[in-house]
This record gives sequence, structure tokens and C-alpha cells, in this order.
Amino acid sequence: MNKKTITDIDVSDKKVLVRVDFNVPLSSKDPADDIVVTDDTRIQAAMPTIRYLLDNGAALILCSHLGRPKSTDDKQFAMDPVAARLGDELGIEVIKMDEVIGPSVSDAVAQLQAGQVMLLENTRFLPGEKKNDPDLAGQLADLADVYVNDAFGSAHRAHASTEGAARKMREKGGPAVAGFLMEKELTALGVAVDNPDHPYIAIMGGAKISDKIKLIEHLLKVADKILIGGGMANTFFKAQGKEVGKSLVEDDALPEAQRLLEMAGDRLVLPVDVIVAASLSEESEAFNVPANGIPADQMALDVGLVTIQHFNSVLQGAKLVVWNGPMGVFEVDRFAAGTNGLAMLLGALAAQGATVIVGGGDSAAAVAKAGLSDQMSHISTGGGASLEFLQGITLPGIAALDDK
Ligand code: 3PG
Repeated sequence: MNKKTITDIDVSDKKVLVRVDFNVPLSSKDPADDIVVTDDTRIQAAMPTIRYLLDNGAALILCSHLGRPKSTDDKQFAMDPVAARLGDELGIEVIKMDEVIGPSVSDAVAQLQAGQVMLLENTRFLPGEKKNDPDLAGQLADLADVYVNDAFGSAHRAHASTEGAARKMREKGGPAVAGFLMEKELTALGVAVDNPDHPYIAIMGGAKISDKIKLIEHLLKVADKILIGGGMANTFFKAQGKEVGKSLVEDDALPEAQRLLEMAGDRLVLPVDVIVAASLSEESEAFNVPANGIPADQMALDVGLVTIQHFNSVLQGAKLVVWNGPMGVFEVDRFAAGTNGLAMLLGALAAQGATVIVGGGDSAAAVAKAGLSDQMSHISTGGGASLEFLQGITLPGIAALDDK
């Protein structure tokens, strides 16, 4: 990685502003409830950086966005549950601010001592965050002596707390460097971008093809095969003229699907069988049918066993596998077999020495639900960020950091 990290600078007795990605799932959308963090993967992922900085004598000012609030009044997205979870993890009080910037924050920062941790309020409570307002970015940078970006999941956003604050810190002569999570992500995902090992097989799933057209197009240039599953397979089926019944289809994306099919030839591998049901409800019975035999009154909700066996044979001998998006509606047990089966065979492939990278929130959640996270070579904490990075796009939050 060609960016400086926290080990390249002195942080002792420094006030360090750390942009983390604490955009985590919460238990409720009702601010009147006792809201808690339901999945702390992203908090855990930032711990090595936080612990290193504390062990090396820094005072920490952490900041993150959480969800997509409309304004400061959107209290369901306040950072309090995150501060509580982080405090439990660290075993010290996390000083939770009710504002992002302003006199109350500046005063508290002035009092902040080495070894203490402060968490600012949700950066998206201020409209200047998403606009990358230079004023807000400057005020954030002015809180600290050092800027650290450990928020890989937000690195594709040119926002005030990501790109803007890093730039402002450099303008005032301070260091703007990567944290350990950022470094780990760039190193692991970089394997699939710079001179990937072959055979390189990509697996794309999830509901929508429209989000991933550019990535699939890019992968067709660098990967040997692309296996397709999940809801997006239906759009490809329809583009091939197959009956898709009541399955989810993105009609607007049909011309793009057609174009990708023509471009790919036999390098795009579609499911050969699917699991269908009349609806997602528990009452409706599920059937396994060939991909060209989806009944008109049914919808495809998972890939079938023959497909997983076929994918397994295509994957044998792969040196590099990148997986993004579940194979079906894995949140419902009856439609999770395809996703779980794929996770298991990828675990076995990694054990044989292949590099298996899982990118994206849903696929990471599916692997965790299947209890197979430990078996993968790398699971990215980034959704949109990993999709853009894998396309070879320079992410603004990374570009703004100091070069080595
Ligand atoms: C994510 O969850 O992918 C990141 O935190 C970015 O969130 P956003 O898509 O709301 O910008």
C-alpha cells in the first residue's frame, strides 16, 4: 500500500481525529426505544487502530456517520448506542458528544487527555457532511493534530469527515494517514485489482443487477468466469427470453443484461436450477425447478442444488475468488441453502489454498449467519466501497491521505 499509516507517525500526546465507519445495524427505528447495536462487526474491526493509538499515548476523537438521517431531529440515528457498545468493548467511558462541532465539542476536546476516547455525534446530522463543505471539514481538522481514516466502508464518499478533513489536515501541515483496518482492506482487496492470480472467478449475487453493471463489465475484462446467482439472475433469464413467472426482474436493466450476455459468451455462468415459491410467506410451498421451467405463478427465491454443484465444478482449481451478493433470500431459512452451500464450498476452496474475498454487507452477513466467517481469506467491511474499489476506481477518502 502506498499510503502512510499510523505506524509511520508519532501519535504520543497528540489529539487524533479518527474517521471510523460505525454505520452499524440498530435494534429499532423508534427513538423512544432503548436502541442497541445488533451487529458490532464494524466496531470490532476498528479496535486494532483504536487500541494501538491509545497504547501509544494519543487522545482520541472518533467520528462516523450512522444511517441516512434527514436532519439533527432524526434521533433514531444518534450515536449513543454506538458509544455504549464501544465503551463496553474498551472498558472505559466513551465521552459521547451531542454535537459534531461547536463550542461544546471544542471545550471538551481542550480537556481531553491521552488515553481518553471521545465520540462525536453523527456527522450526517450536519448538511455540510455529504456536501463536503470545506468549512465543516476545516472545523473537524482543527479539533486535532493528526487525522486517521479507518473507515474503508465510507472511503468511496467524498464527504467532509472523509476526504475534506484529510485534505484540511494536510493543508495545515498535519499528518493524514490510514488506520489498520483501512490498510488491511486495501492490501486484501488489492490482490484482486493489481495483477490478480488466475484462474480468477467472480461470483455476483444480490437482488439488483443495476448496482453492479459496471462491476460485472470490469470483471469481464479481468476475471476468467463470473458466476451469477440471486435476484439478479432473473433479469439475465428474462433477457435470454426465459419465463420468469413472478420473480423479481429489473425491466429497466434488460438492455444492459442483454449487452453483458453478448459480451461475456460462456464466461457468464447462470444458475441451471432454482428454488421457487408462490410468495415469500411461510405457508407457500417451495419447489426445485430447472431455470428454464419457472412456472408463471411462482417466483425464484434461491439457486438450486444442481447449480451449486455446477458452480463447484467451475470453481475447482481457482486461485482467486471474489464473492459479492447472496444467492437467494438467505434471511429466510427455506431460501438460504444456495447461499450457505456456496459459503461452504468457498470455505473448502480457501482451505485448499485459494484466496477467497467476500465483499459487501449482505454476503458478509450471509457468511456470518452460516458460521463460516473464519474460513474466508478476507471479508470486507465495505459494501459500496468494495464494489467501487474492485472496479479499480480511486476512492476519494484514500486518495486524500499522505503518500508513503
Ligand atoms: C456503508 O454502509 O456502505 C457505508 O457506511 C456507507 O454508507 P452510505 O451508503 O449511507 O454512504
